[in-house]
Amino acid sequence: MVLRDLDSWLQSEAPTILRRRDLDQPLDDFLAHGAGGVLWRDQQRMKVYANSPKSDLHTWLSQVLADLDGDLLELGCGIGAHDDTRVVGIDLHWSSLLRFPGRAILADALDPPFSGSTFDAVLAINLLDSCRDPFLLLQQADALLRPGGTLVLSSPFHWRDEITPPRNWLSPEQVQEFLLARGYHCQKAQHDWILQSGSRTTTLHRCVTWIGRRQDSVLQR
Ligand SMILES: C[S@@+](CC[C@H](N)C(=O)[O-])C[C@H]1O[C@@H](n2cnc3c(N)ncnc32)[C@H](O)[C@@H]1O
Repeated sequence: MVLRDLDSWLQSEAPTILRRRDLDQPLDDFLAHGAGGVLWRDQQRMKVYANSPKSDLHTWLSQVLADLDGDLLELGCGIGAHDDTRVVGIDLHWSSLLRFPGRAILADALDPPFSGSTFDAVLAINLLDSCRDPFLLLQQADALLRPGGTLVLSSPFHWRDEITPPRNWLSPEQVQEFLLARGYHCQKAQHDWILQSGSRTTTLHRCVTWIGRRQDSVLQR
């Protein structure tokens, strides 16, 4: 590569580079810092999720998944906080989806590409406070469930106004109200989730979790 303006080239070529797996580390690192650091931030984000230790939340999620069967969907799956290959995952982040253990679909959880009443369980693990409209997310997740289905939620309620406009923020109580109003029988708990953002920096999130079983007029499993 002999370029005068690496940044402009990277602006248009970033998607191609993201797809490549054959670049050696120094070249990869060098390119990653161009284009305003967009690729570097992408790499850092992947490292945080891939290098963080397994925590209480992961153990809880594996146990929850072991008790679920049928068609399982995870909204905002990222790389997956579990290794269950039965789960279909959707996310907007391409690099994360490449590492997701199950079938991965690039799609918007707020506008999911499925008909209503399609899944036996819908999971949204740490997505509520990472999306633009958490109430719409709850409505979409509820609509995707078959009668008698299970909704599995987790969130640290760590709102950032650059991601979620403050008028859309929800409290755990409002989530609980939504679930009760829609006829869910709820098992609410708290589980710790640790993210390692640097070699000396970890963040402990106290997530509120729900296993909601919808009490529809069909027999439960
Ligand atoms: C905090 S991460 C959690 C990832 C994973 N569920 C976990 O617990 O490790 C939030 C994820 O939600 C995704 N996300 C945010 N808004 C989304 C949307 N509207 N549709 C799909 N995914 C979304 C992000 O790309 C990110 O991967």
